[in-house]
Amino acid sequence: MRLGLRTHRCGELRSSHVGQTVVVMGWVQTRRDHGGVIFVDLRDHTGIVQVVFRPEVDVEAHRLGDRLRNEFVIAARGEVAPREEGNVNPKLPTGEVEILSNRLEILNQSKPPPFDWSDNVDERLRMTQRFYDLRRPEMQHNFRLRARAAALVRDSLDAEGFVEIETPMLTRSTPEGARDYLVPSRVSPGQFYALPQSPQLFKQLLMISGFDRYYQIVRCFRDEDLRGNRQPEFTQIDLELAFTRPEEVRELVDGMLARLFREIIGVEVPLPIPQLTYREAMDAYGSDAPDLRFGLKLVDLSAAVAGAEFRVFARVLEAGGRVAGIRVPGGAALSRKDLDDLTEFVAQFGAKGMAWVKVNPDGWQSPIAKFFTEGQRNAVADRLGLEVGDLAVFGADSRGVVADSLGNLRKEIARRMKLIPENAFAFTWVTGFPLLEWDEEAKRATAMHHPFTAPVPEDAERLDELDPLAIRAQAYDIVLNGVELGGGSIRNHRADMQRKMFQLLGMSEEEAEAQFGFFLNALQFGAPPHGGIALGFDRIVMFLVGTESIRDVIAFPKTQRATDLMMQAPSPVGEGQLRELGLRLRRT
Ligand code: AMO
Ligand code: AMP
Repeated sequence: MRLGLRTHRCGELRSSHVGQTVVVMGWVQTRRDHGGVIFVDLRDHTGIVQVVFRPEVDVEAHRLGDRLRNEFVIAARGEVAPREEGNVNPKLPTGEVEILSNRLEILNQSKPPPFDWSDNVDERLRMTQRFYDLRRPEMQHNFRLRARAAALVRDSLDAEGFVEIETPMLTRSTPEGARDYLVPSRVSPGQFYALPQSPQLFKQLLMISGFDRYYQIVRCFRDEDLRGNRQPEFTQIDLELAFTRPEEVRELVDGMLARLFREIIGVEVPLPIPQLTYREAMDAYGSDAPDLRFGLKLVDLSAAVAGAEFRVFARVLEAGGRVAGIRVPGGAALSRKDLDDLTEFVAQFGAKGMAWVKVNPDGWQSPIAKFFTEGQRNAVADRLGLEVGDLAVFGADSRGVVADSLGNLRKEIARRMKLIPENAFAFTWVTGFPLLEWDEEAKRATAMHHPFTAPVPEDAERLDELDPLAIRAQAYDIVLNGVELGGGSIRNHRADMQRKMFQLLGMSEEEAEAQFGFFLNALQFGAPPHGGIALGFDRIVMFLVGTESIRDVIAFPKTQRATDLMMQAPSPVGEGQLRELGLRLRRT
């Protein structure tokens, strides 16, 4: 008789099981031979248990045990026994017991494992042999946690009356600011579907259909530059509500996030999550996704340095730019080399320099001190709140360059000086975004969030009088530790307002009709006021498991070059398949 089913998982066995006969199955983690007795650490996703093969217990099991190698898959039956004193392993939950095996079946052999988990393994190798990488306990933990998080999200939203509705993957382009992935149609040669960058228009159409509260945990596809926490296909928690207001959306998201962090990692998120306006975030943190785990705020010094002899500052102020500084408490201890490194660091964001001041007990030490009167020095010190032992760093440039360079500099200084508390979760909403931003390359205004976002009601009433770039949007982002977790808005539910928006984006009536006619049509048939948000589910899971890499929370992720190293995708296709799709490749 073959061993049928497992009676226990490996990691479950304790002293309370002593005397029971159990059947466990799993992978051989290690095999050791101590004077003819074979010890196997057997692993499944719950943990490790020691299985012992002694010839005096069962000759056949012992004989087979000798053949075991790492990652063989086995079934073992035996009696749970206390380990001998001295062999107890307090580090292992099962460390007080072992299984004295009287029956062993080798369910499958394994070639020597492709790499050693304990090594710092080359990521390409991990990705090429992903099935084996995912067998690692850390990866098992990550994906089980991810599944629990998804279940909790569904539970939370179901309880709030949301309906989960699936929307198509083969669709047409929805603008979210990235390039589309296209799928050629065989039936309509020369025509293409686009994979959705988000279900934006579908969820709005569902509101018009009367679905009131919709959600979906949904895959989205964006062909964009892949930095740190981006993947070409990723998952959103996407929601939309009719008859809603920004406060209601925020409250719902607050509750859902608080529940996730509490129930999955035991972290209490203080509610309500605070709000910053876009302007406040940009002015004080140089970013619309500010990291609030530490201070080092940007302080405007334009007034304090006005009239100083320093040409760099004077020229910037004349040109309508901004001079700002950051107080770094205790930063006077930084070396000349540190300051040179930081100056080099800001250069990559377009800064032309990084003026600095060390506040020593005997006064300012600074390459620019000589350009300032005592009054100006005091004004700067007052504004920044400088104390002896501090460093101040300065940026002078256009508002954009100052924000970008000092915004990144504050993060870099915090990292270097270890000012970021561990295990801190600083959530914030960012609201009050402009509706449009200027795209210098395209020489036209583009939607800051997306073209379906509504202006704030006061601005909507006098749209024609306003400078388009001054129109405020009813949009909101949720940010955690400097990472954008999600974004959403109240939408244009009236066709005339949506048309107006397309016009502001530089689209002709014909273009708008050709691209979004179906949607403009639907808006004319009783579209309720509505709004919603989408949260990056992968990013949320990254925080919950505590990883810096989005590839640790996506089972089969893609590389920076959007390739799947295991499946070898993308890959060329045969001439026949191309012909069927009516395609011919161009030589570039
Ligand atoms: P948005 O484009 O801001 O909004 O996307 C929402 C959230 O999705 C996550 N995200 C990504 N995660 C991983 N890899 C990517 N390439 C990637 N791109 C975006 C981010 C982001 O905050 N339809 C609107 C939502 C709405 O208005 O309701 C939308 O998609 O965490
Ligand atoms: P310079 O007079 O060019 O030698 O610059 C004197 C100091 O000002 C140096 O520490 C430079 O790094 C700094 N500096 C130059 N340009 C800027 C700028 N645009 N913003 C901030 N600091 C600057």
